[in-house]
Amino acid sequence: MNQEPLLKMEHIRKVFPGVVALDDVSLTVQAGTIHAIMGENGAGKSTLMKVLIGVYPLTSGSIKWMGKDLDTSSITNVIKSGITMIFQELNSITTMTVCENIYVGREPYKINKLILDRKKIVADAGKLLKECDINDIDPNEVVGNLSIAKRQMIEIAKAISYDARLIIMDEPTSAISERECQHLFQLINRLKEKGIAFIFISHKIDEVYKIADEITVMRDGKYIGTYEASKLDYENLVKLMVGREITDMFHKIQTKIGDIKIEVNGMNVKGKIDDINFYVRKGEILGFSGLIGAGRTEVMETIFGIRKIDTGTIKIDGVEVTINNPREAVFHKIAFITEDRRGNGCFLPLPVSQNIMISSYDKVICQLAQKGIAIILVSSELPEILGMCDRIMVMYEGKISGEISKLDANQEIIMRHASGIVV
Ligand SMILES: Nc1ncnc2c1ncn2[C@@H]1O[C@H](COP(=O)(O)OP(=O)(O)O)[C@@H](O)[C@H]1O
Ligand SMILES: [Mg+2]
Repeated sequence: MNQEPLLKMEHIRKVFPGVVALDDVSLTVQAGTIHAIMGENGAGKSTLMKVLIGVYPLTSGSIKWMGKDLDTSSITNVIKSGITMIFQELNSITTMTVCENIYVGREPYKINKLILDRKKIVADAGKLLKECDINDIDPNEVVGNLSIAKRQMIEIAKAISYDARLIIMDEPTSAISERECQHLFQLINRLKEKGIAFIFISHKIDEVYKIADEITVMRDGKYIGTYEASKLDYENLVKLMVGREITDMFHKIQTKIGDIKIEVNGMNVKGKIDDINFYVRKGEILGFSGLIGAGRTEVMETIFGIRKIDTGTIKIDGVEVTINNPREAVFHKIAFITEDRRGNGCFLPLPVSQNIMISSYDKVICQLAQKGIAIILVSSELPEILGMCDRIMVMYEGKISGEISKLDANQEIIMRHASGIVV
């Protein structure tokens, strides 16, 4: 990589009254690459980007863009230079249509500049979306009717219409589903091939490994280092982010584990899950790990009565029960917190998969376990599984591929089971 970097930020310092938010931070981004910035909450990731984009003046440091000093005195200037940031709190105007959002502030007019040229903005927006390979969004749709994921894609298209060479996305995946995340990543990768660079902020490690070429780690406002994603292993990345070992990150409280609360035997749902056997004890946190599509969600949905069980039994406190719908599950005192919190937030769970390096939520889970509640934690985040669970079930292609005790568990063993490589 000896070409001139697209962006070079050096010795960046940003002081808010009473807080040093950034202390000698550096960031170098090459054209046409995806650069992740990782760090726990409060590490300074968003502030670094806001300094770059001209939201906050920097206290000291230098920002070079294609070899020249970047003028960050106004956001408009920065956008004109070819840098756009898509904020966590999206800036789309929800009452306007897709095309109006894209061209707001620079609408084409006809007849003596009096009448908005609707036809043109619809056509232009259509062309733009096509250029970005976004095929499932109608330029005439009102933005408020679209999912967060689609709004992000519109913001990306808008950035492209401003000739952005660098697009910054701050925690874009925190409010979207795993499937939407895959679509977003496809779009990012297609644009990368066209030479667009991305800065991708996240604290979800699995995700970052899927998308990033390089990773810059920050901690407590400080620059920790920049690494090629393919050369930095998972465990080391976590250590760099948190400055301590993975399992210390969670506020796991060891609880007394009691009798078996729920027991599942030979559970089968045709085409989805096959011969599922497991139990959870009172006060125990049982992890369910596996890759997307391995069947974890289907297992939970079956226990909760969302899916119909074909064969097999569910016992609660040793007594066989039938659960035909969520109401019956609730009657048996089962709660289900879904993966898609925005969507089906009505019932609450067992499983919970969310990025949790934000630490209040692990405390809640431990407190529930301490009260003797049996907990099943479904998560794709290995640190969460390793840090929180007493025992781990791993699924692969609809079956349970492994059961691992806390003492034997590590990332590698879980990944082997999750990818069907029997240990
Ligand atoms: N506008 C602000 N005023 C004062 N302090 C701020 C402001 N914005 C961020 N900070 C502080 O700067 C630090 C870094 O925050 P932030 O950049 O939001 O972290 P991250 O995005 O990595 O979670 C935190 O300690 C935060 O409280
Ligand atoms: Mg942030």
